[in-house]
Amino acid sequence: MTQPQPNEIYLKDYQVPAYLIETTALRFELGEEVTRVIADLKVSRNPECQQSKPGLQLDGHPDLVLEELSVDGRCLSAEEYQRDGEQLIIADVPASFELHCVTVIEPQNNTALEGLYKSDGMFCTQCEAEGFRRITFYPDRPDVMSVFETTVVADKAAYPVLLSNGNAVERGEEGDVHWVRWQDPFPKPAYLFALVAGDLKYIEDSFTTMSGREVKLQIFAEAKDLDKLDYGMASLKKSMRWDEEVYGREYDLDIFMVVAVDFFNMGAMENKGLNIFNTSCVLAHPATTVDAGFQRVEAVVAHEYFHNWSGNRVTCRDWFQLSLKEGFTVFRDSEFSADMNSRTVKRVEDVSLLRTAQFAEDAGPMAHPVRPASFIEISNFYTLTVYEKGCEVVRMIHTLLGAEEFRKGSDLYFDRHDGQAVTTDDFVKAMEDASGRDLTQFRRWYSQAGTPVIEASGSYDAAAKRFSLTLRQSCPATPDMAEKQPFHIPVAVGLLTPQGQDYLLGNGATTQVLDFTEAEQVFHFDNIDAAPVPSLLRSFSAPVKLSYPYSREERMFLMQHDSDGFNRWDASQQLAVEIMQGLIEDHQAGKELQVPEQLITAYRTVLGDDSLDKAMVSKILTLPSQAYLSELAEVIDVEAIHAVRKFVRNSLANTLESLWQDVYQANLSDEAYSPDADSIARRSLKNLALAYLLATAKDEYLQFALRQYDAADNMTDQQASLTLVAHSEFTDAADELLDRFYAAWKDEALVVNQWLSVQASAPAEGALKRVEALLEHPAYDAKNPNKIRSLVGAFCGQNPVNFHHQDGSGYAFLADQIIMLNKQNPQIASRLLGPLTRWKKYAPARQQQMRAELERIKASGELSKDVFEVLTKSLAV
Ligand code: PHE
Ligand code: ZN
Repeated sequence: MTQPQPNEIYLKDYQVPAYLIETTALRFELGEEVTRVIADLKVSRNPECQQSKPGLQLDGHPDLVLEELSVDGRCLSAEEYQRDGEQLIIADVPASFELHCVTVIEPQNNTALEGLYKSDGMFCTQCEAEGFRRITFYPDRPDVMSVFETTVVADKAAYPVLLSNGNAVERGEEGDVHWVRWQDPFPKPAYLFALVAGDLKYIEDSFTTMSGREVKLQIFAEAKDLDKLDYGMASLKKSMRWDEEVYGREYDLDIFMVVAVDFFNMGAMENKGLNIFNTSCVLAHPATTVDAGFQRVEAVVAHEYFHNWSGNRVTCRDWFQLSLKEGFTVFRDSEFSADMNSRTVKRVEDVSLLRTAQFAEDAGPMAHPVRPASFIEISNFYTLTVYEKGCEVVRMIHTLLGAEEFRKGSDLYFDRHDGQAVTTDDFVKAMEDASGRDLTQFRRWYSQAGTPVIEASGSYDAAAKRFSLTLRQSCPATPDMAEKQPFHIPVAVGLLTPQGQDYLLGNGATTQVLDFTEAEQVFHFDNIDAAPVPSLLRSFSAPVKLSYPYSREERMFLMQHDSDGFNRWDASQQLAVEIMQGLIEDHQAGKELQVPEQLITAYRTVLGDDSLDKAMVSKILTLPSQAYLSELAEVIDVEAIHAVRKFVRNSLANTLESLWQDVYQANLSDEAYSPDADSIARRSLKNLALAYLLATAKDEYLQFALRQYDAADNMTDQQASLTLVAHSEFTDAADELLDRFYAAWKDEALVVNQWLSVQASAPAEGALKRVEALLEHPAYDAKNPNKIRSLVGAFCGQNPVNFHHQDGSGYAFLADQIIMLNKQNPQIASRLLGPLTRWKKYAPARQQQMRAELERIKASGELSKDVFEVLTKSLAV
């Protein structure tokens, strides 16, 4: 099978666009068979382009049917333009002209869910990153910004609601057909264009901005989901207020709309004035949504809203700069969530994700810098590195500058670049100019991939009352780069007295941020009266792996006394990690396992510690995940990690049984459900206690779980029971409960997705059989990304023991799915590939099986760019 090798595109080849589009007028005639798109563009030469008489290059997907193309009213003959793959080139055009272009598309057959497509009978769009070229011919690049006017024409009965960006300025009807014209006064790149047409209902509210303007807020959904929109609306209003208070950013249009759609490749999209959301990220109701779901809605609504400034008003010059908007906006939404809920808990959650999934990405074949230097398919770069590590990079700037100087920097950035398409370097420059700090070396965080490693050691000189901290940094090679230069790493440090108090450090505070810039550096702390226990990398001040030769006693000391809440949690995690790593070795050596007394003491102490809030107790008492232990392992021994986790969990369950009972009882409540931080913490601790109780495998605790299931007035408690029972040894009870759950919730799509996930992630033998049966279940839809993620994604990502089954059946299953999805929805196919690309981390037998499946996919026929890139890069290492 030969196929043309897709091109790799390089940042170093960037060139300014030859033509600019001043205005873009679009008319959509939406139909069931075909949709006609009429585009009228005012085009002119870009004065910044040096080329003399360049041709006009437009992007356009090969599937576009071109009906008409004219320049200044004159129809072009076939010889006057050239279609070549993804491009249309008109060699000879005036310096400024009007381009008229008519294309025909079939949204109803668009399964890739990029461009204009249909979701549950409604029309909607997804144009980021390069979806607009599936709608019409256009310079589909973010540095071409244009003022859009959009007219949507459709059948009135089937599509009563017609939406696009900006303000509705005119509407009319004729027979069965009606139309609405929208104008967006803010110039924007094509990737922020949006259109929605459907039978939608909405809720409405309003927000008065800091300058006193009233903004209309509307959230649209299918009628059946109208009762699940209030939380999203409340979150939106909180976000708008927060962005005014913390960043001084005011909303700029008179209306802000959000639409919930069921078929969506990602979480949500920040289209100007018309955000489009995956239902899973905006619908919320106590009866159907778990606590984590409420928190996700709050965070994603905020994230998309914040993009209005960090992304839309100031956008990206090219897609290599993706983290300019995503890293910064994740930082903004993360701080928002920290302010709305518990800061420490949010930090623990963010860092857990980073350390498991992003660190694994950094160590894998697709490793790339926060600002990638090249790509084949940009959709493959909406990654944890660009988003989460990108957020950490912005956070480090915040840490280095302090909140006040950072705000000056962000003000300067927005002010200087409003209406422009810029680079991550422009962002850093604004931070430098506003603060006077030199961030030259710091910029390496944008260009060097890989997770830096810090080895720390300390020594105390009693006579001089001086503590010296030696830090050494290195960064492993990544496929793109062998040698790395030292990073500028902010290391936040505190020193604890033997009584567990903070020493006052040289800066007059209890925490000092060290500028660690050399390969090796020694930092001295004076006036330290007794040998301290250092608290390092407080609040996880940099995305690195830091080690220090702590004794177990010191870790337990930090767990109890560190004034940095994050580090208290991390001390507990690292204690458990160290112990479990020892047990994994014992397991591999065939030794009998025994949980060291220290872990049990540590758990007992935390269970009796009133100074900790419930959320932290529940985080501390949660064992390191299989994914985290796998990331830390040199070679991943799936069964050993699983067996040890189970063994430790069961030991803690049995040894502390009565304490778990107390915790469970103490946290029952008959208050009405509320998704506030305290209530979430209480439920999380209660359900953690229930998990330990069920791990004892005693029938009485199965009864606890079943009682909780029946009594629950909210999905959090009900689903916790369901998951615990379904993943327990009580298999009959599990089957019965799963059936009851489905019967009760079969009409709630998002709840059914959870039901699929619970089964797909069940660790018992035979999960694959169940998953294969569920593929045929009426609840499944192989075209809906949420369903695919809930079933196939959960099995391959959250069921390590079954996915990595010795017989290779899990790998073969995933490969079959990818071969099927490669044609249908390349973005989803490529994302699902993830678990197979990490083959290098496993023992030789598994490596071979995994590679064989990758080769089979490669040989299966024509590959999408998405799958091609991930496949070839992961086979090349
Ligand atoms: N820009 C979106 C966000 O992070 C993500 C997204 C990318 C959505 C590509 C759809 C397609 O807010
Ligand atoms: Zn985003």
